[in-house]
Amino acid sequence: MKAPREKFGGRMAVIMAFAGSAIGLGNIWRFPYLVGENGGAAFILIYVAFTLVLSLPIFLAESAIGRSSQANCRAAVEFLVPGKAGRLFGLLMVITPLWILSYYSVVGGWSLDYLVQSIKLDFIRAAPSEVAGSFGRFIAHPWVPVVFHLAFLAVTVGVVVSGVKGGIERFCKWSIPTLFVLIVLIAAYSLSLPGAGKGVEYLVKPDFSKVTAHTFIDALGQSFFSLSLGTGIIITYSSYVKKNENLLVAGAGTALSDLFFAVLAGFAIIPAVFSAGIEPGTGPTLIFDTLPYIFSHLGQSAPVLSAVAAILFFAAIFLAALTSSISLLEVGVTYLTEDKGMKRGWACALLFVICSVMGTLCSLSFGPLSQVKLLGNNIFDFADSAASNVFMVTGSLISVILAGWVMPRSVLFRELTGGGVFSANVRVFPVVRFLVRYVAPIGILVLVLSSVL
Ligand code: PHE
Repeated sequence: MKAPREKFGGRMAVIMAFAGSAIGLGNIWRFPYLVGENGGAAFILIYVAFTLVLSLPIFLAESAIGRSSQANCRAAVEFLVPGKAGRLFGLLMVITPLWILSYYSVVGGWSLDYLVQSIKLDFIRAAPSEVAGSFGRFIAHPWVPVVFHLAFLAVTVGVVVSGVKGGIERFCKWSIPTLFVLIVLIAAYSLSLPGAGKGVEYLVKPDFSKVTAHTFIDALGQSFFSLSLGTGIIITYSSYVKKNENLLVAGAGTALSDLFFAVLAGFAIIPAVFSAGIEPGTGPTLIFDTLPYIFSHLGQSAPVLSAVAAILFFAAIFLAALTSSISLLEVGVTYLTEDKGMKRGWACALLFVICSVMGTLCSLSFGPLSQVKLLGNNIFDFADSAASNVFMVTGSLISVILAGWVMPRSVLFRELTGGGVFSANVRVFPVVRFLVRYVAPIGILVLVLSSVL
């Protein structure tokens, strides 16, 4: 007889696992920067509105698909759309997270290297002028970033190989609260620096004059990426959620902790950047270039405090990336163990090899392979934009169509209201279903059109 499927322990375990996937690099480097660029609190308001009317309904659609199927992503989708098309859609959602993991773990590797460097006090010992620009030299190195990428993947496998309860649940249950403590400590430090007030202003002052059409697209894309939508993760994790859990509460809890963390990350990073008299730049350069420079600069006068802040900061980035990468790996592992009858250990080993090869190509695209261009981008950027602009939106569109139009209303009702037991859910159900059926598909199409036009 087949062993019964594993299940997450309870509500807290479910929210921690979902939040683990949601909280990641997107919250730490992208959100704070987008907020500042797009009018501070004005952007946060738009982001929250999109999360409520679009991302949360998509999240609920995916979780209903996952829990009702109690199966891996391929089977869950094919269950609703029998035949070739269903299998293709299902497999797309198995491949997407592995594709993302390949390049996401490269950045995870950078965070591990920077954590090691901060523990070795490299940023404090070196002069700020030496630290500035060292990131560019590091990622162009022919093998060091590759080694750290492989190490990061190995740690990811180390968690996932222990299973849903013994690995993922156990890991997320301590790492997510730890992450919040770390980010609050760093924010307190950052806010205490002279001149931090300017950074606070950058983050919170609602400036509607900076809101353009692009602001809406940025907010929507960020909200999708941050909640890990369209990647098969919500479907897979939900298939491990017990039948009596309230999916609406789990979804709202996830979205709320994700947003809260992103705002805290903003307060941890931006005031420090302003206090050093620097304009916040975009993306990886902000956390891997500008911040080490700031730690080194502050280390001249307060070495101990700066050293501690650097260690805590890179530990937070490493942990946040790790809780996301384990969710990316679990989708493929669930598929291989259930569909192909593989042992969890072998499934992890196989996916480790595949992601190592693809990730190594991504990593080398900043150094020896920088001349290789795909549609005008280096390999890393190509992988990233294909995931965000094609795979994730396609996955989200498939999910809302399946949950809104293919899944019988009674099944969606049962999943989202606990069969009528959760009376508050019963009241909002018609609104959620309307958002899933009509509003979400339109929102996704707008996102697609905006990226091609
Ligand atoms: N949500 C993660 C972040 O904010 C990234 C991610 C995307 C994880 C898609 C899984 C799937 O960094």
